Amino acid sequence: MSPEPANGPGTGIPRHLAVIMDGNGRWAERRRRPRMIGHRAGARAVNVCIDFCLERGIQALTLFAFSSENWGRPEDEVGALMKLFMNALEREVEELDRRGVRVRFIGERTRFSEAIRQRMDEAEAVTAGNDRLHLSIAASYGGRWDIAQAARALAEDVAAGRLSPDAIDEHALHARTCLAELPPPDLFIRTGGDLRISNFLLWQLAYTELWFTEALWPELDTATLQSALDDYARRQRRFGLTGAQVAAPRTETSA
Ligand code: FPP
Repeated sequence: MSPEPANGPGTGIPRHLAVIMDGNGRWAERRRRPRMIGHRAGARAVNVCIDFCLERGIQALTLFAFSSENWGRPEDEVGALMKLFMNALEREVEELDRRGVRVRFIGERTRFSEAIRQRMDEAEAVTAGNDRLHLSIAASYGGRWDIAQAARALAEDVAAGRLSPDAIDEHALHARTCLAELPPPDLFIRTGGDLRISNFLLWQLAYTELWFTEALWPELDTATLQSALDDYARRQRRFGLTGAQVAAPRTETSA
């Protein structure tokens, strides 16, 4: 991503949007249909969200597709979700590439089948040169797992003599978390009405603006996403400073 933020704090448009796509199951159950029908409808809503980001110039989108805990769902639902991911990868990657989207997967990839891992690798390789939208799909992902794997990487570097324990600080740990090369999410959206983070990007969401909607993920439309952006644009992000400090025009200070 380019170093100069065209969007982000102060511009009204988030640079990085992170989304928990919740409510697929309830959407289907309300229609007396199998939960999987809801996940299929959810896959269509993913395209609504990607289109929105491309139109608004949002530069990074991170979607929570499958959590570390989702492996515990009924076997038939997990199997059907794997098929859905596989089909989506086959169907969508060419079009995403044509539109300048870079696709990446974050999470414990070793838990997926060889076939899915291969598709993930291919999608990443095909779209690696794109820069219009950085789409990160969190799959078999957990925020606690992310922090733990970063801590393990630090320990390995110390054990190998590449890093002094004194050099371990927030920056060193951050550099080993997933998404380290992207700015942290400016805006977080969760559909489905629940007011929680559910082990999503625990480290990265420290100063993210949170926005929740009762709308179920398959119902997602441009108007809902625009409401989130309008609300975001009205907020003052203080990052621990006072309102007056943030509102004051920046002045050059000399030491
Ligand atoms: C949460 O809804 C959703 C999931 C666990 C799966 C998300 C998958 C998709 C949106 C479809 C495909 C995605 C990609 C990236 C191709 P839920 O099942 O927990 O809904 P509920 O809370 O109503 O039961």
